[in-house]
Amino acid sequence: MRENVKICTAEDVPALAAVENACFSRPLSEGQIRSLIQSENTVFLGTREGERLVGSVWVQIVLDEGYIGNVAVLPECRRRGLADGLLRALDELARDRGLRFLTLEVRAGNTPAIRLYEKNGYLRAGFRPGYYSAPKEDAVLMTKEFEHDE
Ligand SMILES: CC(C)(COP(=O)(O)OP(=O)(O)OC[C@H]1O[C@@H](n2cnc3c(N)ncnc32)[C@H](O)[C@@H]1OP(=O)(O)O)[C@@H](O)C(=O)NCCC(=O)NCCS
Repeated sequence: MRENVKICTAEDVPALAAVENACFSRPLSEGQIRSLIQSENTVFLGTREGERLVGSVWVQIVLDEGYIGNVAVLPECRRRGLADGLLRALDELARDRGLRFLTLEVRAGNTPAIRLYEKNGYLRAGFRPGYYSAPKEDAVLMTKEFEHDE
């Protein structure tokens, strides 16, 4: 895995919560992050600048399927390729663990995130009208498939 991206542990929970709080109107609480990180099906990857955790992505693995929760980078650290690095590390994880695909939902108006996923090879795979609340908004489903030797 790339050197500034690492799999997070329970020690990273407060820093992960700080990233959530800075990036989302409905952030995961520290308790929610702690129970997700303890689940053997969930992996959080964190990216650092120096010692400081400044971005993360998490994925829930169900058999050979990967469901991305959120990708987030602190506002003051954006547009430096950190989310790109997180998604490339997630590709490595998907290949190592033999996942068939990674998939996610994103707000239809979230152009930065949609561009990020498109740049990293995710294709639009579906649309859920009115899926999000506060504010109400459609969801775009995006998926990236992986091929594995049998
Ligand atoms: C989406 C987000 C994670 C991007 O993080 P980032 O570290 O700034 O992204 P990067 O610098 O790695 O950019 C990678 C690519 O994403 C796209 N991108 C990122 N920010 C963008 C913006 N403001 N406008 C348009 N495209 C953008 C570009 O394609 C960019 O590639 P480029 O620099 O070659 O043009 C960040 O904006 C964020 O945390 N947003 C709030 C949380 C969120 O909405 N997460 C998605 C939920 S599904």
